[in-house]
Amino acid sequence: MANAQPALDAPPSPPSGELQATGTLDIKDSRTSKNYSVQIIQGGVEGDTATRAMDLRQIKTAPDEFGLMTYDPAFMNTASCKSAITFIDGDRGILRYRGYPIEQLAEKATFLEVAWLLRHGELPTQSEYDQWVRNITFHTYVHENIKTFLQGFRYDAHPMSMLCSTVAALSSFYPEAKNIHDPEQRDISIVRLLAKLPTLAAFCYRHIKGLPFIYPDNDLSYTENFLSMVARMSEPKYEANPVFVKALEVLFILHADHEQNCSTNAVRAVGSSHVDPFSAVAAGVAALYGPLHGGANEQVLRMINEIGHPKNVPAFINEVKGGKGSRLMGFGHRVYKSYDPRAKIVKALADDVFKQVSMDKDLEIALKLEEAALSDDYFVSRKLYPNVDFYTGLIYRSMAFPTDFFTVLFAVARTAGWLAQWEEMLNDKEQKIARPRQIYVGYGERPYESQLKTRFPSAKKDVLRK
Ligand code: ACO
Repeated sequence: MANAQPALDAPPSPPSGELQATGTLDIKDSRTSKNYSVQIIQGGVEGDTATRAMDLRQIKTAPDEFGLMTYDPAFMNTASCKSAITFIDGDRGILRYRGYPIEQLAEKATFLEVAWLLRHGELPTQSEYDQWVRNITFHTYVHENIKTFLQGFRYDAHPMSMLCSTVAALSSFYPEAKNIHDPEQRDISIVRLLAKLPTLAAFCYRHIKGLPFIYPDNDLSYTENFLSMVARMSEPKYEANPVFVKALEVLFILHADHEQNCSTNAVRAVGSSHVDPFSAVAAGVAALYGPLHGGANEQVLRMINEIGHPKNVPAFINEVKGGKGSRLMGFGHRVYKSYDPRAKIVKALADDVFKQVSMDKDLEIALKLEEAALSDDYFVSRKLYPNVDFYTGLIYRSMAFPTDFFTVLFAVARTAGWLAQWEEMLNDKEQKIARPRQIYVGYGERPYESQLKTRFPSAKKDVLRK
């Protein structure tokens, strides 16, 4: 007789997207002694609890007054949207896309499967996946004028400047993309962006290196094709190292989305004006370019270079603890107060990649730094653990990517998340054009009294005088 199988847990039902009232918050205004009751709301099983900021507007001292608002620079404690895409629990080190743990996706899924999942909320069926991959593969080519456009950049232009500009320029090649409420236009724009980002990124790389652009090879997978466009020289067919292909696929999955980070917020804010998605994604690339966001993996490599030798690690750790300005780059995270789940995956990946290129002094320094920090009370007591960027820079460098190209790789992957979040924003009936309030702290009204002697100083005269 066959053993009785334990009953499988029923799969969770799809989230409704509704916010549930779970209680009320009673507020007493000491100015008026009036009492107010505002709803406490929660989204989904693991959703955060919140109250609607607009409910505070009823709290006022006179009927014609504006009412209370919240003050929250940098959105430290403000939910700007409901989202069913990515779940993070920073204390428990959990990251899930559409409910699926990042560890399982990184091990078993492909990047394009994850891109579909982020957008549609469910894993693709085989036929959906085949069609999706085919569409993206067919749209990898860019208009020839993009090449001319790129050639206008200087040889030492930062690749993120180039990427940001070329993504924005795509909007002018597809003017119909502004019909964002037309489902067909939305579909094709999303496919075009996912398809063309690797081509643009690789073209930026080739331009800096002074190498000819390599056209997409549509026989190859998404990541193989990207590596081919980056690295192919005279060989008729590029054969990528399978370990590098796998590493890039996993890194793309890990970077595909991370809920309402700075660049995603930028894409949503710009997209809320109903501009076309090429322009909105260009805003995301611009935000990611900043050193506080996409640039940390670059900083890890610079720090390792400065340390110079494994024997200098203890002195560097002491310097960090002494608060003399240096931080241990690649450690700590605003949200994760335990090990960043992506960092664990990246570390295992680094082991595979370094078997190909042999372990070098820099990796030894990184391993020593991690070991020293994880056993030091300064870092443990502050809950400072390695974040995703601690090892990614080393992996990218061992794959021969230049340091200032790391953020470009991040942008290619994050495009999947930006587009899913952009579309979720458009479908959300509660969303409007993003327009925060301010607390005005400037002058009151005062009369205009000009300080000028002349209104139109002549630039020509200045030039002649010189
Ligand atoms: N090295 C040494 N000390 C640190 C570090 C670090 N990397 N990070 C935080 N601390 C210390 C701070 O000095 C502070 O100590 P104190 O309480 O004695 O003053 C305490 O830990 C809390 O630091 P905050 O700056 O308040 O933490 P916050 O959450 O604002 O910062 C951040 C998070 C910016 C990521 C920070 O940990 C950091 O600068 N890390 C290094 C840069 C980095 O790796 N960034 C990548 C983040 S991942 C990503 O963006 C994809």
